[in-house]
Amino acid sequence: MHTDVQEILFTEEEVSAKVRELGEQITRDYQGQNLLVIGILKGAAMFMGDLVKRIGMLVEMDFMAVSSYGKSSESSGVVRIIKDLDKSIEDRHVLIVEDIIDTGLTLHYLKNLLQQRNAASVKVVSLLDKPERRKVEISPDYLGFSVPDHFIVGYGLDFAERYRNLPYIGVLKPEVYQS
Ligand code: XMP
Ligand code: MG
Repeated sequence: MHTDVQEILFTEEEVSAKVRELGEQITRDYQGQNLLVIGILKGAAMFMGDLVKRIGMLVEMDFMAVSSYGKSSESSGVVRIIKDLDKSIEDRHVLIVEDIIDTGLTLHYLKNLLQQRNAASVKVVSLLDKPERRKVEISPDYLGFSVPDHFIVGYGLDFAERYRNLPYIGVLKPEVYQS
């Protein structure tokens, strides 16, 4: 375990088993449909890569990069699009892949945006959820794990762009982000 990590919440094996489960569920639900999977960079990159390999049919993949205005650790609800989708999503079945839902503001904004672009359906799969912190009522259609209100890193999640490549999901020591 990295010295800045206080506790491992989910090991690489636990994450992998959960991703497999989510992939199977998504495969069943989208049977016979043409699915467009949209990963939200950069946090969801690893989850996206592993998840699509567990979906038992061909899907299309695209990515968006967004950032919320204001402090990096606190979502403001105003979302800036840094990279938009490559193609129109009109009449497409869309699945948004997120790393973590915190206040819910980012996802609320994104879901509305994609619905306004006349997608046939917009669903969300999130690896993690911090339900205690919610400011808008929104929940993922598919969820990996609920986590307590701590700063989470690893498996794509960062603090100041670090820790993304840890293979497990853990809690960052408070002294690391408080200093
Ligand atoms: P909201 O509040 O809009 O925020 O739901 C979602 C985005 O905030 C980031 N976030 C985190 N990133 N560890 C992280 O590495 C965390 O504990 C954490 N909590 C929120 C993340 O980018 C997410 O997409
Ligand atoms: Mg981040």
